[in-house]
Amino acid sequence: MSKITKADEDLRKMLSEKRMKSDDDRRVGSEVFDKKTLETLYKLANQGYLQILYGAISTGKEANVFKGVDDDGNFVAVKIYRVTTSDFKKMQDYIQGDPRFKVKTSNKRQVIYTWVNKEFRNLKRACEFGVRVPRPIVAKNNILVMEFIGDAEGNPAPLLKNADVHDAKKVADKLIEYVKILYNKAKLVHGDLSGFNILIKDDEPVIIDISQGVVVDHPIAEELLNRDIGNLSKDFKKLGIHISEDEIKSKIIDF
Ligand SMILES: Nc1ncnc2c1ncn2[C@@H]1O[C@H](COP(=O)(O)OP(=O)(O)O)[C@@H](O)[C@H]1O
Ligand SMILES: [Mg+2]
Repeated sequence: MSKITKADEDLRKMLSEKRMKSDDDRRVGSEVFDKKTLETLYKLANQGYLQILYGAISTGKEANVFKGVDDDGNFVAVKIYRVTTSDFKKMQDYIQGDPRFKVKTSNKRQVIYTWVNKEFRNLKRACEFGVRVPRPIVAKNNILVMEFIGDAEGNPAPLLKNADVHDAKKVADKLIEYVKILYNKAKLVHGDLSGFNILIKDDEPVIIDISQGVVVDHPIAEELLNRDIGNLSKDFKKLGIHISEDEIKSKIIDF
């Protein structure tokens, strides 16, 4: 069977009643998979990045995350940005001021594609410095394929805010260490760090959703860092770990 046929079949499968069972899923399906997105999915399938696309793990404001399987049979996470509902103005503000990207365009689709590329690059940079994030696999147009964070059966890892954390001190220390590495070595600020964007796998934190991450000399980097630290301090408190924002900040910033 040729790859094209296989991809065709799989895509048809994933859009069929079988894969999109509930009304909710169907609505999300047709909303996410506009013609261009479908074409991108076909390309990724033909290149071996995707063999099967299962239902959504999450349906967010701007993107939906699906569980997929690549040609080698590994689970992958597939984040698909919606071109219609993305906050394109915010994206532009964050992209401007980041020397890695030059987008003068006001074309919504192009801005979203750059945003996805930014998430890919931020994940890659975090990985390179040893921060535990999903390993990015490929970014194409409005689709990001990355390592699936979950168990061998394909159950996604829980969010920190819902997880049963056994060693809270270890998790908090790890997170502070990661933010420190991100800031001092990778020269990045996450910008939306909280229990909503941290997964717990094997009692260890995995930081996700780093698309809005900015370089440390971006005009809003300091403000975002302070917000991240504030969120962490609150999340730690819920875990029974009391550490003030100032204390966290002094651990992160090397004076
Ligand atoms: N690599 C991944 N592996 C497993 N689950 C993931 C992965 N990335 C995201 N998710 C799940 O999808 C949800 C939404 O992903 P996220 O990147 O935070 O997008 P959003 O912009 O919608 O917040 C997460 O809360 C998490 O449950
Ligand atoms: Mg998120």
